[in-house]
Amino acid sequence: MTEASTRPAADWWRSAVVYQVYPRSFADADGDGTGDVNGIRARLPYLAELGIDAIWISPWYPSPLLDGGYDVSDYRDINPEFGTLADADALITEAHALGMRILIDLVPNHCSWEHPAFKAALEAGKGSPERDLFWFRDGKEGGLPPTNWPAAFGGGAWQQIDDGQWYLHMFDISQPDWNWDNPKVVEEFDSILRFWFDRGIDGFRIDVADSMAKDASLPDVPLADGEPTRDKYVGNPFYDQPGVHDIHQRWRAIADEYADSPQGPRVFVAEAWLSPAERLAQYVRPNELHSAFNFDVLRAAWSAKELRQVIDYTTESLWAVGAPATWVLSNHDTVRHRTRYGRDQQQALEGAGVVPVDLALGLRRARAAALLELALPGGAYIYQGDELGLPEVEDLPEEVLDDPTWERSGHTVRGRDGCRVPIPWSGSEPPYGFGTGEGQPWLPQPADWAPLTAEAQATDPDSHLALYKSALRIRREQEALGDGRLAWDTDAPDGVLSFTRDPGFRCVVNLADEPFELPGDTEVLLSSEPITNGELPVDAAVWLKSL
Ligand code: NOJ
Repeated sequence: MTEASTRPAADWWRSAVVYQVYPRSFADADGDGTGDVNGIRARLPYLAELGIDAIWISPWYPSPLLDGGYDVSDYRDINPEFGTLADADALITEAHALGMRILIDLVPNHCSWEHPAFKAALEAGKGSPERDLFWFRDGKEGGLPPTNWPAAFGGGAWQQIDDGQWYLHMFDISQPDWNWDNPKVVEEFDSILRFWFDRGIDGFRIDVADSMAKDASLPDVPLADGEPTRDKYVGNPFYDQPGVHDIHQRWRAIADEYADSPQGPRVFVAEAWLSPAERLAQYVRPNELHSAFNFDVLRAAWSAKELRQVIDYTTESLWAVGAPATWVLSNHDTVRHRTRYGRDQQQALEGAGVVPVDLALGLRRARAAALLELALPGGAYIYQGDELGLPEVEDLPEEVLDDPTWERSGHTVRGRDGCRVPIPWSGSEPPYGFGTGEGQPWLPQPADWAPLTAEAQATDPDSHLALYKSALRIRREQEALGDGRLAWDTDAPDGVLSFTRDPGFRCVVNLADEPFELPGDTEVLLSSEPITNGELPVDAAVWLKSL
């Protein structure tokens, strides 16, 4: 593997910039309207040129795609709509040759109702060993489910089947929860990890990493406003139970078996929407997972005070356990940050907002946010299309909505499709080079995306893409921009975030309502907006080098 970065290979994950590919929507090589593995392969040179360290690929396994692939029916193969295992092997080899690592998604809390083990459990009947791989229970008297637990996509978390029993699904009814108290489930996932590590992947992003262990006494959750709470309170019977840490420690030991291979350490990143940061820090103790997404920055308003607080408590709680921070602005579950930042206040992270949006303002802030994210200590994730400044598509027609949230909420929550619209690569009209034009993209692309294509931005030195490329190049060159510490400038005025990183690097973000005079004796390495008369404009960021 080539190692383009100046930082030690063994520590690559501590400050890696990881690019998230949502395979359905990234690039469609076979022209059927759905992205695929060969589409990703074709775009590897683009990603290498962008300057990222690793690619995380959202689930690519066989799946009925009732939750976009987070409903897995076979953990050891590739969805035929996306390609073959041979394609995946080629992708891993080619990415490595270009100096990029590959992370894939592990979905351990649940599978698809099309998984053979779940089908066998339905067939086998009450009390069978097959059913014990999942959470099958009799209901309460009066035809009630075993508990009042809510499902994440709306409605209750239990589904009744023909023989009267109920099975647990914390997400869609098509996603039955595995029973992690059964050693066969534990062993099955050990084997899945090894299957993919042996194929050469560099790590896993762990889906809902705080959810696998359940309180087997099945207590109800308290009510909030008359409804079962969705809060992940301490003691919640299905989130952040102590047993999840046993699973993560076991997986860390497996990853560590590969630590001395020439490829370098195999790593994990946890997806766990947990606050406060001290709870999340438990997942990244030295014998557990390597990193965990920090979603508090993503949830923070465009406010210097709020962002600084979040950055401080995140880094402090993670550094206390020796883990690096992992920053995220958007992903396939949230409204794209160009759109969020284009509103006065960040609106709900899921679903379309009714509050008017100023996309020019959103883009300007997204540029500044990119420089902030990429200057912070630790690792950073870029969601596909963020480097192009894509907005959320908030006007998808109802008939194309695919997210299970739409149905499960009784058509009240539109869901996450607006951030999953296929990527515009080139050309002046849909499908913008996403596919060959034979099959229509699985979600329609807006008619006004021609200026946003990668092709259109590639030759424009002021484009969003050009900003990302410059930032990533400078990040690799600057020794200061690894997994070190930051020091705030205590004399920065309210509304201005200003911090230094040793040696000799400073990042300033102006969230105030007037331009900010930059310090002298510095050289501008990169700015999100032009600097005139030594002043940083409002809603802009700059990287400076001390002279
Ligand atoms: C988190 C994933 O990011 C999301 O897309 C999915 O719906 C849920 N986990 C359930 O797997």
